[in-house]
Amino acid sequence: MDKYTKTCYSIEDTRELAKKFADATKEVGCFVNLFGDIGAGKTAFVRLVAEALDIKEKVTSPSFTILNEYHTGEIPIYHFDLYRLENVGIKTITDELREYSEGKCLTFVEWAEFSQGEVPFDRIEINVTYDDDDNRCYSFTAIGDSKKDIISKMEK
Ligand SMILES: Nc1ncnc2c1ncn2[C@@H]1O[C@H](COP(=O)(O)OP(=O)(O)OP(=O)(O)O)[C@@H](O)[C@H]1O
Ligand SMILES: [Mg+2]
Repeated sequence: MDKYTKTCYSIEDTRELAKKFADATKEVGCFVNLFGDIGAGKTAFVRLVAEALDIKEKVTSPSFTILNEYHTGEIPIYHFDLYRLENVGIKTITDELREYSEGKCLTFVEWAEFSQGEVPFDRIEINVTYDDDDNRCYSFTAIGDSKKDIISKMEK
């Protein structure tokens, strides 16, 4: 399968899901595009994955810095937020995205819609949707054959 969807009814559910994702990806690393409205739970998911990988630092939103990186856990995490680049153009950051798509690390990109067409490599895409309370629906799609294995691991 190339798709896995999970509805989380509380932050605890999301913590469990993030742990599952960390376990499914930490041996190989993964490039991840995150989609979803403001406040959907993109940064929250990255924070919980970081927690699952024993990252010591506090994970904050990279919306002003564009990139935050964390090196104190089991594998490095690179966390991009492209929101502020909407007008400048994603071309300024394409090389970095490519560089961080390789190797045993987890690279997350929030507001990935601003990079469409510029990431031809295999990746996982996560769509986050929500309503008024603590319900969050996380939907994972494998783009490229090399990422299908991650989806199968999550289904177990
Ligand atoms: N089940 C849940 N899973 C994840 N987050 C939840 C859940 N329930 C409530 N929340 C809350 O929803 C908020 C999600 O905010 P977050 O900063 O992750 O959004 P975002 O998608 O990164 O938004 P932005 O586009 O502004 O960066 C947090 O305050 C988080 O605590
Ligand atoms: Mg965010």
